[in-house]
Amino acid sequence: MRLKDFGLRNGINEVIVITKGEKLNTAPIGIIVENEDSIFAKARLYPSHTRENVEKGSFFVANILNDPVIFAISTFDDLEEDYFESLEPPIIKGTLSVCEFEAKLIGPYASLKLLKGKVLRTEIRAVNRGFNAVIEALISATRLKINPELEKRIRECYEIIEKCGGEREKEALKIIKERTGIH
Ligand SMILES: Cc1cc2nc3c(=O)[nH]c(=O)nc-3n(C[C@H](O)[C@H](O)[C@H](O)COP(=O)(O)O)c2cc1C
Repeated sequence: MRLKDFGLRNGINEVIVITKGEKLNTAPIGIIVENEDSIFAKARLYPSHTRENVEKGSFFVANILNDPVIFAISTFDDLEEDYFESLEPPIIKGTLSVCEFEAKLIGPYASLKLLKGKVLRTEIRAVNRGFNAVIEALISATRLKINPELEKRIRECYEIIEKCGGEREKEALKIIKERTGIH
């Protein structure tokens, strides 16, 4: 078993992490991989519900998927249960692969050890700049309060999403506009 068997490659892998507090929590998190042939990774966890849940001993399940709408909703809210195709383990509808990690907090990082992984679907998709721009806009949106200058970057992402995105990217764009107030 290796991280790369489930799509986690060297570098930073943007995934949806599901943890549990009083209810299921979903958040986009970057899983940092230095050796894709191993079962070890890490994630920098800023103060958030995800971090709090890990502190309290929650499971840490990564869903690898490429739906921009799921990334957009999870950035600002938690997905309701009807977005899931399974709750144990938590799997969001359309997820390509799922990885369950043991997570231990060490300073600002969670040290991650892969316990179990499963590929659920394989899908061929060419690179879409609109999808990448959705991810960029979302990251900037989460940092907007500490750096208001990111508004310019978000607007640049909008142009790319409008030009290159498909329906799901455009739906994600609507959510970003509503939730940031940047139109
Ligand atoms: C693509 C993407 C990657 C992100 N990566 C991280 C990360 O690695 N660590 C982190 O603490 N927050 C990251 N964030 C921000 C969290 O997802 C965001 O703060 C979220 O609202 C936290 O939700 P929670 O409080 O429900 O855990 C990322 C956001 C996006 C859009």
